[in-house]
Amino acid sequence: MTIQEIRKDFPLAGRVIYLDSAATSLTPIPVIAGVAEYYQEYNANIGRGVHRLSQIAGAKYLSSRRKVATFIGGKEEEIIFTQSATYAINTVAQGISFRTGDRVVISSLEHHSNFLPWLRLRNQGVEVIVVKASATGHLESEDFREAIDERTRLVAITHVSNVLGTITPIAEISKLCHEKGALLLVDGAQSVPHMPVDVEQLGCDFLCFSGHKMLGPTGTGVLWVREELLSQLSPLVVGGGAIEDVSMDEYLLVPGYTGFEAGTPNIAGVIGLGRAVDYLNTVGMDWVEAHEARLTEQLLRGLEHIKRVKIVGEEGTHGRIGVVPFTVGGMPPHDVALLLDEAAKIMVRSGHQCALPLMKGLGLSDGVVRVSLYLYNTQEEVEILLTTLNKALSRT
Ligand SMILES: Cc1ncc(COP(=O)(O)O)c(C=O)c1O
Repeated sequence: MTIQEIRKDFPLAGRVIYLDSAATSLTPIPVIAGVAEYYQEYNANIGRGVHRLSQIAGAKYLSSRRKVATFIGGKEEEIIFTQSATYAINTVAQGISFRTGDRVVISSLEHHSNFLPWLRLRNQGVEVIVVKASATGHLESEDFREAIDERTRLVAITHVSNVLGTITPIAEISKLCHEKGALLLVDGAQSVPHMPVDVEQLGCDFLCFSGHKMLGPTGTGVLWVREELLSQLSPLVVGGGAIEDVSMDEYLLVPGYTGFEAGTPNIAGVIGLGRAVDYLNTVGMDWVEAHEARLTEQLLRGLEHIKRVKIVGEEGTHGRIGVVPFTVGGMPPHDVALLLDEAAKIMVRSGHQCALPLMKGLGLSDGVVRVSLYLYNTQEEVEILLTTLNKALSRT
C-alpha cells in the first residue's frame, strides 16, 4: 500500500494534522466498518446463546483472539481481552499473590498505569524499586542487574517510553530476570503499534498493550500471559461468562482466558481490533517502523533549528521511535499545543503525559509538548508542523 492509499482509509487524516497517536490512534474505515457490521449484522452476546447470531459473534470474537495472538507471536490461549492496557497491568498486579518482603522492580520511565498498580502493593509489604533512566532517557540493562535480587518476584517495565520514545533492551533484562527467577511484565502500549513485537524474542512473561493505540476501537486492551502462568493468576473481576460451575457456597472458574473475561466483553471493539491487526499486517510492521523512522529523523533535524525549542531526552534517532518531546522557552506546553491547533489544526499532546515521576526527575513541572507519529503521517505534515512552529516562535 502507498501512503496515499493508507491516508484514504483514515477519514480524519485529511481534515487535521494528527500527531497524537501515542495517546490514541486514528481509526481506519475497515475497523469502523467491522464495528458497524457487528451491530448491523450479528448483534448478540457471545458464549451464552446457541442461536445463530450468538454463534457468528462468538466466532468473530475468537477470530480476533487468534489474530492478536499471531501478531505478537503468542498462542490464542494466552490472550486475555481487557478494556485497556491499564486494566491488563492491574490484572497482573492484583492477580499474583504477592507476599510481604517480595520485591517489584520498575523504572523511572513508566506511565502512571505501570507505576500506580505497583506502588499500591507497598500496602501489602511489597518493596518497589525504581531503576532510573540515563540523562537521554535510556534504560541500561546493567542497572537492572543490581536491582533484581532473589526476592524479586516481578520486573515491570515499558518497552518504549510514552514520553521520550526510547526503546528498552527487554531481551537483556529478561535474561537477568530469569537468572534470578523473577517474572517480567512488559508494557507494550507504545511498542506493539509501531514495530514488530514477538513475545518469544522479548522473553517476557506478560505483555500488556492497548487496542486503541494500534488503530483499534477505544475500550480495547490486551493482556498476553505465558500459558503456564495462567493458572497462577487470579482474575481481577469474577462473574457471569467465566464459570465452570456455581453452587450456593462456591464457584469454579473456567480455566484459561475465559475465567478472566467475566461479564459481557467489548464484543464490537474486539472484532474491530481484529480488523486493526489485519490492517497493520497488510501494511506490514516493517514498513510502519521504517516509515516512522524517516519522519522521526526529519522531525528531529527540523526541531533542532527552531529558536527556543529544546528536544527533551535523546536528540538522535538511535534506539528510539517516533515519539518526540520538546519544550519551548518562555511558553508553557499547553499554550504551544493550542497555538498549533489554532494555526494549522495540528494535534499534539501537552503536559505531564501521565508520567509525573519522570517529569519531576527532569525538572519539567509543566511537562512537555509531545509529537507522536504513525503510519498515516507524511513528510508534508511534519514540514507544516516545523514551519508553523518556526513562524509563531520567531514572532513572539
Ligand atoms: C506506555 C503506556 N502504558 C500504558 C498506557 C495506558 O494505556 P490505556 O490508556 O490503554 O490504559 C499508556 C497510554 O498512554 C502508555 O503510553
